[in-house]
Amino acid sequence: MSETGKDIELASQLLSQGRLVAIPTETVYGLAANALDEKAVLSIFEAKKRPFFDPLIVHVHSTQAVTRYATFTDERLQKLAAQFWPGPLTILLPKKNIIPAIVTSGLDHVAIRIPRHPLTLKLLEKIDLPLAAPSANPFGYVSPTRPEHVARQLGNKIDYILDGGDCTVGIESTIVGIENNRVCIFRLGGLAPEAIEKITGRVELKLSVSSDPRAPGQLQQHYATRKSLYFGNLDELIKKHHDKKIALIVFGENTVPSATNIQIYNLSEKGDLNEAALNLFSIMRQADESDSDVVIATHVPDEGLGKAINDRLGRASA
Ligand code: TXA
Ligand code: MG
Repeated sequence: MSETGKDIELASQLLSQGRLVAIPTETVYGLAANALDEKAVLSIFEAKKRPFFDPLIVHVHSTQAVTRYATFTDERLQKLAAQFWPGPLTILLPKKNIIPAIVTSGLDHVAIRIPRHPLTLKLLEKIDLPLAAPSANPFGYVSPTRPEHVARQLGNKIDYILDGGDCTVGIESTIVGIENNRVCIFRLGGLAPEAIEKITGRVELKLSVSSDPRAPGQLQQHYATRKSLYFGNLDELIKKHHDKKIALIVFGENTVPSATNIQIYNLSEKGDLNEAALNLFSIMRQADESDSDVVIATHVPDEGLGKAINDRLGRASA
């Protein structure tokens, strides 16, 4: 089992030696390696059992550091960076040669972000290397928002878990880039599309659901629980599964009549979408680990972070 602690010095040493360290970010925990060390990056894929066609996000400490690894060619993306970094935003930029092909699955753009977590920012400054880090979960499973989640699932494959407490956003970063000269969102996440549109004007949603390596990360079956998760009309789904033990994920004022076969998990009783995003993955895990037979979830309002929540529940149910 790997050690968990707040020792940035140790984390930095291990990473410099090509080892794996789980790092806290405001969105979810990442499984980090030195992005310039191909062998280290390879071990991320092995630890997660992640297919090589799914590229990694590179984390740095400053926009100045970004320019060592990528080029800002579009003013709109530059504005987004100025406005939202550090924060839950990942930007696709033309990569420089120094970034190994394994990081981007051979694509000519690299996904980059400056995370907003004090401990990880300190680590990034200290080590002054770019850290490639996917979410620290086995491929396809729910992302970790607490150090315990990482320890439980990948503990035996990681050298150290840097303990930054609970994540404060709880859902992965929003990924943006340019296609056909338009600003596009390729993954919904912790930064609401509305906030992005305030800076750039209208954005396009490009949330392909395919296993095409050129549309990576949007894999249909993702963020999944081990139990079957059904996502849709509650009344119909409850009726359909009346003979099973149900873990029911709801949002806001709960109008579901209580029944002995139903255990209710509320994403946010007061109906706050940010709170719901924060609770989503923990609640999906709890529901998964409960003694229920199935998990049933309902849509949340399709605005702000609600779009990302619906996206994750939809993919978990695919
Ligand atoms: O919040 C987050 O983004 C977290 C934390 C740790 O930073 N990371 C994360 O990484 O969610 P991961 O590996 O679970 O998701 C990375 C996704 C890929 O699946 C892909 O969709 C997209 O980022 N991506 C990465 N590099 C890309 C590239 N060069 N072109 C297109 N998409 C890319
Ligand atoms: Mg992930």
